[in-house]
Amino acid sequence: MSPRPGAEDSSVEARSEVQAKPEKLELIDIAYELTDFRSFADLGACWGVDGAYAFHAAALCGNELDRAVIVDGNLTPLTRERAGAHRRVELVQALLGSRQALDAVRKVDALIMYDILLHQVKPDWDRFLLDWLPHANSLIVFNQNWLKTPRTIRFVDRGVDWYYRNVYVWEDDWNTRERLESWFARHDERDEDGRLERDNHWYWQWGIRPLELIGLLAKNGFELIYMKRHRHAFGRRRPWIVNDGLIFQRAAYPERGVGGRLRAAARSVAERTGVLERIRRS
Ligand SMILES: C[S@@+](CC[C@H](N)C(=O)[O-])C[C@H]1O[C@@H](n2cnc3c(N)ncnc32)[C@H](O)[C@@H]1O
Repeated sequence: MSPRPGAEDSSVEARSEVQAKPEKLELIDIAYELTDFRSFADLGACWGVDGAYAFHAAALCGNELDRAVIVDGNLTPLTRERAGAHRRVELVQALLGSRQALDAVRKVDALIMYDILLHQVKPDWDRFLLDWLPHANSLIVFNQNWLKTPRTIRFVDRGVDWYYRNVYVWEDDWNTRERLESWFARHDERDEDGRLERDNHWYWQWGIRPLELIGLLAKNGFELIYMKRHRHAFGRRRPWIVNDGLIFQRAAYPERGVGGRLRAAARSVAERTGVLERIRRS
């Protein structure tokens, strides 16, 4: 889908460290089609992409954009530059789970949560979601979901060796084993906000089981209306980490009950991830 006229400046986009990913742009396109959002907040919009997904969503809405909010603990200079050209884009520098962030966003049609859920500690990912639910009618989620253990786990509880073998997906000049060890060694230290290094949101913190995520939202009145799984997103050596794109919408018929929503969600996940096909064939 091509954005409506709305000041997308590709020269700014070209200066970002990371190019916007087609699968994440597509998920916003689909959410726009399915939910008709006209206002949104992109939580954690900045690192690498400088708000690319928020500006894409804003361009889709074009002149009908009511309000867009970019929230991040670290608003990058390019994000600020791009936002300067958009009258309806507001910037909020705050911790994503903070009262300040929730109050600044107030109520929007949709929340974009891309690559942030598995980072959230205090509030933890599930409390974080519950805190945000009253602030929107739809959630557009892209998360590195976890399939290796039967339940959701906190990665750092398993120690540095296990973390390195199972979770550490980047091995480049910056993401070295030494850097990981140095983080674990500093776990009891506190940062300038008084938070423990162990809880630092720059690292992957949670292995979230997709059905626990979907179940939590179903129990709290949100239906899964779309899901697409990207397997081997971090190489064939880590098949247990998948990129899931998910769209949730506030249930039109909450009286249908949790059981019904959970069954519908489980069925929809099974269909979308190919499990039902495999069961039928066997
Ligand atoms: C991994 S990047 C993802 C960027 C973008 N959403 C994407 O999908 O490419 C996470 C972003 O969220 C921000 N972030 C994550 N957790 C945060 C928190 N608890 N408080 C403030 N900012 C946070 C980081 O500053 C960073 O810009």
